[in-house]
Amino acid sequence: KEAFKDKFLIGAALNPAQFTEQNATQVTLIARHFNTITPENVMKWEKIHPAPDQFDFDLADRYVEFGEKLGLVVIGHTLIWHSQTPRWVFEDGKGSPASRDLLLARMSNHIHTVVSRYKGRVQGWDVVNEALNEDGSLRQSPWLKIIGEDYLVKAFEFARAADPKAELYYNDFSLENSAKRQGAIALIKKLKAAGVKVDGIGTQTHVRLQTPAIQDVEDTITAFGDLGLKVMVTELDVEMLPRRANSGTADISHREASSPELNPYAAGLPDSAQQELARRYGEIFAVFTKHADKIGRVTFWGVSDGDSWLNDWPIRGRTNYPLLFDRNNRPKPALDAVLNAARNAQ
Ligand code: G3I
Repeated sequence: KEAFKDKFLIGAALNPAQFTEQNATQVTLIARHFNTITPENVMKWEKIHPAPDQFDFDLADRYVEFGEKLGLVVIGHTLIWHSQTPRWVFEDGKGSPASRDLLLARMSNHIHTVVSRYKGRVQGWDVVNEALNEDGSLRQSPWLKIIGEDYLVKAFEFARAADPKAELYYNDFSLENSAKRQGAIALIKKLKAAGVKVDGIGTQTHVRLQTPAIQDVEDTITAFGDLGLKVMVTELDVEMLPRRANSGTADISHREASSPELNPYAAGLPDSAQQELARRYGEIFAVFTKHADKIGRVTFWGVSDGDSWLNDWPIRGRTNYPLLFDRNNRPKPALDAVLNAARNAQ
């Protein structure tokens, strides 16, 4: 965070062991290296609003209190998503789909209740998450099917009304894929035409060692910067393990069966792979520093390798190495590569 203090914020997604301070080593690491945080899971609908008349704010409150205690910029993730949303949300209580009016009322209630609770404390919200398909068309989610295209307009309007000062983002993965990026640009323009101000784009940036090409990472930042949006890199990590189907998707519904050759580094990461990771992080941060004027924040999707969702996705129980700190919370060569990118930009 010091190295990039004139450029952008540096963040991490946190789990409960971290923000309830059970993991003291990681609390020290978070305080030292990061100035913004995102809740990895505890603000998702299924956690914070599990039943129609039940909100469960315990962990989300602890998360926000932790951020305030350490003086961090606190982000909210995420209000409207097709995933991790209980089925009752989309049903009428009698086994049939909810009507448009019922679902809009639920969306309004959810957004107003959650956003108002943290008004002035959560500084930016991922309002809608992952609404697009890879070809840039709108995902046929229950939100779209039941409410229609204006569900995005409504979500942003409800969030703006609940906390006019919070920054509001549209967040998605694989925006480096040009078809999907064009879809996101079209979406932002449509929202604008409908009178909705989107403050920033959340580009998740779940990448692999070789893909996407670094030029596509750069083009993503400049495309949204040119639209006048703040670019937030919201979920950065670098996947180190092979996949059965060589798809770059970060779609949580994608799953693959396990097999030992798909878990090649269970006993440790060879130096050559460690250096490859450092090289990749170096080139990514060279692009981020080059376009620092467009970027508000770079958030890693986890603190240390052991915490990463990539140990369990798309195959459960693997040993992955996607972050800057190892399983013992020690810095990896990738951290030096990131710091070098900051120095080289001076
Ligand atoms: O909390 C339960 C626990 O009680 C239970 O014993 C355990 C058994 O499976 O599951 C736990 O829940 C898991 C949860 O993570 C907390 O660890 C869920 O199964 C698992 O599906 C969930 O995965 C999260 C995933 O989103 C789905 O919500 C990942 O941690 C989280 O990193 C991932 O984050 C998403 C972003 O929100 C959006 N963009 C993509 C990104 C990566 O998929």
